Amino acid sequence: MNRNDTTARIAHVFSGTFMHSTPRSAVEILHSCVLGVDDKGKIAFIENHQDVVSLSEKWGFETSDIKQLGQYEFLMPGMIDTHIHASQYSYTGTALDLPLLEWLNTYTFPVEAKYKDLDFANNVYTKVVRRTLKNGTTTACYFATIHTEASLLLGELADRFGQRALVGKVCMDCNSAVPHYKENPSECKEETDRFIKELLKKEYLNVKPVVTPRFAPSCSSSLLSELGEIAKNNKLHVQSHISENKEEVELVKTLFPGCKSYTDVYLKHNLLTDRTVMAHGCHLTDEELKIFRETGSAISHCPNSNISICSGMLNVRNVLNHEVKLGLGTDVAGGYSPSMLDAMRRTLDTSKALTILDPQHKTLSFEEVFRLATLGGSEALSLDDQTGNFVVGKDFDALRVNVCVPDGPIDLFPGEAPKVILEKFLNLGDDRNITEVYVAGRQVVPFPDK
Ligand code: GUN
Ligand code: ZN
Repeated sequence: MNRNDTTARIAHVFSGTFMHSTPRSAVEILHSCVLGVDDKGKIAFIENHQDVVSLSEKWGFETSDIKQLGQYEFLMPGMIDTHIHASQYSYTGTALDLPLLEWLNTYTFPVEAKYKDLDFANNVYTKVVRRTLKNGTTTACYFATIHTEASLLLGELADRFGQRALVGKVCMDCNSAVPHYKENPSECKEETDRFIKELLKKEYLNVKPVVTPRFAPSCSSSLLSELGEIAKNNKLHVQSHISENKEEVELVKTLFPGCKSYTDVYLKHNLLTDRTVMAHGCHLTDEELKIFRETGSAISHCPNSNISICSGMLNVRNVLNHEVKLGLGTDVAGGYSPSMLDAMRRTLDTSKALTILDPQHKTLSFEEVFRLATLGGSEALSLDDQTGNFVVGKDFDALRVNVCVPDGPIDLFPGEAPKVILEKFLNLGDDRNITEVYVAGRQVVPFPDK
């Protein structure tokens, strides 16, 4: 794209080291490069630094405006949390002593019922959007609650703080031990229609609705069918949970005796599309993974949650071998950390635990996990045409990382190459090292003063 054939102006230019993933390379390191972002927030160019003068003439920016990254700094793509319950953020870090089905009835449903109160919702939703942005989550795929107004508020807050988000009003019409925390089927359909209509009417550039049946045990067959129709008619994303724990898998067999598997339940209700992301999948069979591959549906791997509430260990290598799209999720509050750096570390831990159990298992590398947290997440959410890595024409969703901040968590030693610096950041870094966050070219961290 040449400036002469477009009205785009350059809003930011960075110079230094950039690290990202491509389909061919889990970590590609671009040394001494310049990256330009246009005023629509898109990456306009990525070129060698040697050509900076001709680039400045071609694109009409001043070389004095270039943001020069220091020796211990790099840019990486923003991280993509493919599964997080914004509504559970208030009790993150607690209540991890029960298995899934008891955990839902004891802790989760009573808390989610409180989102009828918009002040409560505003407080928690503001905090979760800010916390995740500060930790480098530029895209989040959120579950809210059954409440339309509070779910719309979550969309408004994500837009206001500048996070890219898919927001789901939760749908559930059965099997809740909290009587006031479920809907009747017709109300659920009407409210889902209203939520989608209202959210789309806001015309937020980077916040969109996602059809959200909680999971098969919470939904009647007729509700699942209606949600499948809504997703199809409006070409919307779908998110839910699948095969998280064994007791749940058995329950689904008894609730849907006409279906061959848990995956077949969603398949029969037209909920498996190339815009579907299902959380967990720890106990999916190879047959079921084939259906994921055929339908283009994705899995969100949430290792912190899977260990914290003793659900299972997903064999990510097997999922990747089946060519099923896979991203990482925090699954707050089943997972106790809202940080995607934690999701990467727990992914490696789980992969290593699988190797301990079976030495033939091919452990994931930190490079592969970096790709899953960025490009893999964008593919899982079918947003890879917009985000996930540094490609001309994609939105600039990026983190400026400094591994050498004062009083930071990382110590460096002489001669450490950029790849080692990345590995140290992924294993030891935290939000102190994420000094700037950009979403679609807009700087969203540090937060602007009020
Ligand atoms: N399955 C159905 N609902 C939930 C939830 O809120 N969290 C988790 N981890 N699994 C679920
Ligand atoms: Zn979940």
